[in-house]
Amino acid sequence: MGKKVAVFGSFVVDLMARAAHLPKPGETVKGSVFKLGAGGKGFNQGIAAHKAGADVAMITKMGRDSFADVALKAMDELSFSKEHLLYNEEVGTGSAIIMVDEKTSQNQIIIVPGACSTITAEEVDALRPLLEECEYVLLQLEVNQDANERLVDLAVACGCKVILNTAPYQPVSDEFLSKVYMVTPNEVEAEMMTGVPVDGLEAAKKAAKVFYDKGVKVVIITLGGRGVFLSENGREEILPAFQVNAVDTTGAGDAFNGGLLTGLAEGMDLWTAARFANALAALSVQKIGTTPSMPTRKEVDDFLAQHN
Ligand code: ATP
Ligand code: RIB
Repeated sequence: MGKKVAVFGSFVVDLMARAAHLPKPGETVKGSVFKLGAGGKGFNQGIAAHKAGADVAMITKMGRDSFADVALKAMDELSFSKEHLLYNEEVGTGSAIIMVDEKTSQNQIIIVPGACSTITAEEVDALRPLLEECEYVLLQLEVNQDANERLVDLAVACGCKVILNTAPYQPVSDEFLSKVYMVTPNEVEAEMMTGVPVDGLEAAKKAAKVFYDKGVKVVIITLGGRGVFLSENGREEILPAFQVNAVDTTGAGDAFNGGLLTGLAEGMDLWTAARFANALAALSVQKIGTTPSMPTRKEVDDFLAQHN
């Protein structure tokens, strides 16, 4: 097991339906599969890292309702510590409506964050002892941004490096970005944040430069089934994805980020950690759902051994 790390982010219940095609506005489509499960980018990334063997503290917020029980049950089943869970006594647990096209595996999502967008300054400040112990903290843009901003200030003060998965896209201040150690946007988010359409290696390098000019130290851009662009200390390359039969790519980015965090915590260099994360994500896209599709460490190790 590597150094201690934390994931700070959303928990919502995913209500997922698959159908032969996604409905057009005003259209009703009969679906083939429905699943209710634990989701939210923060929770997905925390579960991915925990299942991959990381010593990870999960910080998220939920209501006092049956949707919160979905998280508690998932954590109990995986012996995942609930020590850093937060509760809102009035606002309910968030939810996400996910529609997946079973032919293309494309999805459409509406997320209502609920309690996880009510994290208070006091709740963030109380994380100081935890962050002092952590090498990295991984966050996304799905909780209230004032909490993310306070968390980043605290992490920097505690000597803990911030990895920011810029999903779902929302504008963030340059001051916020300047305190972030590593960013992991997908192509769309990278373009929205830098103004550079990321359509190849040279464009990715240009986008990375925009992040560097804002003070970020390491840039990763995920490229879906094409893999991932990595940029660190002047080395800039695309690491291809593993070729697999994807049935549901919902949460692929979360799988990647959880894997990356695990690899970095174990002291892997960026390229090795990204390969580990690619493997984790490649396994996740072969299964339906978000948290249920995250592989175990043994599955990742076996996959990597087979793909040497
Ligand atoms: P999502 O929003 O659906 O969670 P994302 O847009 O944040 O995903 P992507 O760039 O689509 O993230 O994918 C993240 C990583 O997952 C990729 O870098 C790759 O490692 C892996 N991946 C995604 N799609 C595939 C695929 N079809 N085959 C293999 N690996 C994939
Ligand atoms: O990245 C996938 C996640 O995004 C889903 O679990 C859903 O909850 C949305 O937040």
